[in-house]
Amino acid sequence: MWDRKHLLDIECFSRGDFEGIFFMADGMVPISGIDKKKDRKRIYVANGDIMTVWFEPEYENSTRTSGSFEGAMMRLGGSCKKFNEKESSMSKGESVEDTARILSQHTDLIVDRHTDPKHVYRLAKAATVPVVNGGNGSYQHPTQTIQDFYTIRKRRGRVDGATIAIIGDMKNGRVVHSLCSGLLPFENVKVAGVHQEGYGLPKEFRPKFYESRQIDMSRLDKELADINPDIVYVTRPQTERGSAMQPYCVNANTMKCLRPDAMVMHALPRDSKSGPEIAYEVDADPRAAYFEQAAYGVPVRMAIISAIMDYDGKIRRASS
Ligand code: NCD
Repeated sequence: MWDRKHLLDIECFSRGDFEGIFFMADGMVPISGIDKKKDRKRIYVANGDIMTVWFEPEYENSTRTSGSFEGAMMRLGGSCKKFNEKESSMSKGESVEDTARILSQHTDLIVDRHTDPKHVYRLAKAATVPVVNGGNGSYQHPTQTIQDFYTIRKRRGRVDGATIAIIGDMKNGRVVHSLCSGLLPFENVKVAGVHQEGYGLPKEFRPKFYESRQIDMSRLDKELADINPDIVYVTRPQTERGSAMQPYCVNANTMKCLRPDAMVMHALPRDSKSGPEIAYEVDADPRAAYFEQAAYGVPVRMAIISAIMDYDGKIRRASS
């Protein structure tokens, strides 16, 4: 069960923890600003609180995770500041631990993304405020998984019973690692990892319901037709982590192999230079769920921040 002190890995999330965040995120959707046509009510539960966004900039650039965390904190009425190692006293040799102690004096919550998978645990140990993992190297990306499951629940009604085909770089993709571990509390799930030789899921993230389908990626459509999944989860080859995969693309032909009620997900970004892994023509297909999935980043992170900062109590009291 999640102790709500920090959010570092997805394994601490029980079924009830997921349901609690989903319930809260439902309440956040109308105030998250993702529906531009609706008038938005505002809440100020985080009024005065500050979130530090520590995203190690060199290899860990971000649009969605940093933007939606910042957007979420600001929609709750709080504010954000960026922390950058090169522009800080870390360039004078200050340790991660000392920096975490000092940042805790200035802010109320730290979100961390770092190339070094251990960085977020060091931060959490030294900080006196909550720390949230926004992606630790090739290890995990727990808040993305909560957002992914929320999207599945919104479209399918439930995560239970889903057959999921994950395509691509199972080895280096933190999104896939968290996704596979995060599915453990759900019932009757099946996962097929469709990948080229050398890009399989590391053992530590392989649940019992996981099946590896090592293929020549040119056989992708046939393989998907055979799996007949409810969900196709496409991933980006992690080139920045040394991935040199055979190219693959989910296109209009692939979509013909999928069921009419299937959904296609991707944490994004898709790589327009060497890909894209999902052809742009698929965007208009109603089964394409990835932009909706990205939009839920704000309400889901509003819910996560509220749970960890204990704003949810204030929200309940305000509405009751
Ligand atoms: C992913 C990431 O950075 O891990 N994107 C995201 O956070 N939405 C996926 C990726 O970069 O491939």
